[in-house]
Amino acid sequence: MSSNLERLEELNQQAELGGGQRRIDRQHENGKMTARERIQTFIDPGTFVELDKFVTHACTDFGMENQKIPGDGVVTGYGKVDGRLVYVFAQDFTVFGGSLSGAYAQKICKVMDLATKVGAPVIGLNDSGGARIQEGVVSLAGYADIFYRNTRASGVVPQISAIMGPCAGGAVYSPAITDFIFMVQDTSYMFITGPEVVKTVTSQDVTKQELGGAHVHMAESGVSHFECGSEEECIAQIRELLSFVPSNNAEDPPFVPTDDDSNRRDEKLNEIVPENPSKPYDIKDVIECAVDDGYFFEIQAGFAQNIVIGFARFGGHSVGIVANQPNHLAGCLDINASVKAGRFVRFCDAFNIPIVTFVDVPGFLPGVDQEYGGIIKHGAKLLYAYAEATVPKITLITRKAYGGAYDVMSSKHIGGDINMAYPTAEIAVMGPDGAVNIIFRNELKDATDAVARKDELVTDYRETFANPFKAAELGYIDEVIMPVDTRPRIIQSLEMLKNKRADNPPKKHGNIPL
Ligand code: HXC
Repeated sequence: MSSNLERLEELNQQAELGGGQRRIDRQHENGKMTARERIQTFIDPGTFVELDKFVTHACTDFGMENQKIPGDGVVTGYGKVDGRLVYVFAQDFTVFGGSLSGAYAQKICKVMDLATKVGAPVIGLNDSGGARIQEGVVSLAGYADIFYRNTRASGVVPQISAIMGPCAGGAVYSPAITDFIFMVQDTSYMFITGPEVVKTVTSQDVTKQELGGAHVHMAESGVSHFECGSEEECIAQIRELLSFVPSNNAEDPPFVPTDDDSNRRDEKLNEIVPENPSKPYDIKDVIECAVDDGYFFEIQAGFAQNIVIGFARFGGHSVGIVANQPNHLAGCLDINASVKAGRFVRFCDAFNIPIVTFVDVPGFLPGVDQEYGGIIKHGAKLLYAYAEATVPKITLITRKAYGGAYDVMSSKHIGGDINMAYPTAEIAVMGPDGAVNIIFRNELKDATDAVARKDELVTDYRETFANPFKAAELGYIDEVIMPVDTRPRIIQSLEMLKNKRADNPPKKHGNIPL
């Protein structure tokens, strides 16, 4: 018995030392925490339970049978975040560079299977040299086992990936399938092929950070959702995000009581949207005046800034917010904005989070690049996502809602439950200038005083269409509200829709235009 106790003690020590003190020191010198330190920082104190701590790899090639470390390069288990159950795995770069063996993959699969059965989020803290080269196809199979589970768990439990070191080759596809990717500046990178292969194939010289660093995946590719200044910030942000989402698709998001009065009418709202329709403003000012305690948790803040997405609460209840941003590209919808918002709408719908949409959109962004890039199919993703979503959908048009973009942005016609507009709203096929140029082209060509006549026609068009009243007459807008009433009206709408039940027709799955 005592020898077994000693053995247990010894194995625990070995596992906790991972690849040894020298490699732990190196990890620290590189500005990174170890896998266990990350878990300690992430999970509520005293709640982490480690599983499979003594698992070792089964490889017997290249002398690997003599190099076994209990735990084999990944720490897995469960614990609590703000008192709620989560499953976690943290790749340990000190053990074979965090590379993935068959046994290591099975450890990850075990927590994913438990998470899916029990209904709790899975958080992966990634820091790995990729497939364990000595294991060959066994490692590739292990990755595929994880990808398969990522896909099956998608829409069942929230899945979150933090990239805290290397994540290269096919290994990127597990994070890519998960719902949110967090990256740490300077120490993390993600790419399919690294700088050396890029140089060989394309002759381009590029560093790891330039190719796949946190900033690149925020600003250029849109692969990541959060660019964090440090590992501590990254972990704090993951905890924050979890506070807005339910543990699984059968639950509602957590209720967070607030002292912010549901009937609060913020006079500032009357001033934010400028009278001049071509003057930009920051839609986040509107959002922050309306939501609980002015707190908006923005997602992908540095990507496709012409659309804003994120979580907030109204009367203590989580909502997903989607808003055109007039401060950037005049709030036009383009490829990136459509994809960014489309995926977010689908996340909210999968996890019972109502969607509040603020609309100020002059249309889709014109241009050869956009057309060649497939704005038709990408714009359709956002349309599809809204049309498919069955959660409560509340829409508020603050100013422009033109053309196809009016339809796309959670209009009544594609299932908006409550559609409101400010008196400043302009709802039409296109803006007055463009419309007059088309429908009065011949008249203006022949007019003696074309400029004055055009002004007259523009004014006429604006009075006829550039307001919310035509749409309100038709019932497409349920209510024209004063900006100051934004918060009470959204909260009343959410309360009224609380027990909404809606289903899509039975089908295996739809065919979203990918
Ligand atoms: C086995 C690995 C390893 C790997 C690193 N190590 N990557 N062992 N398999 N894939 C080991 C190293 O031998 C070393 O062991 C330790 O981890 C740390 O590695 P270093 O190179 O010293 O660290 P660093 O200088 O920080 O460089 C990190 C690195 C580099 C950039 C990740 O190690 C690297 O390029 N590794 C290979 C990456 C790679 O090509 N992976 C396969 C990608 S393809 P010691 O004993 O010295 O500490 C892939 C396909 C997945 O993953 C497909 C899924 C479908």
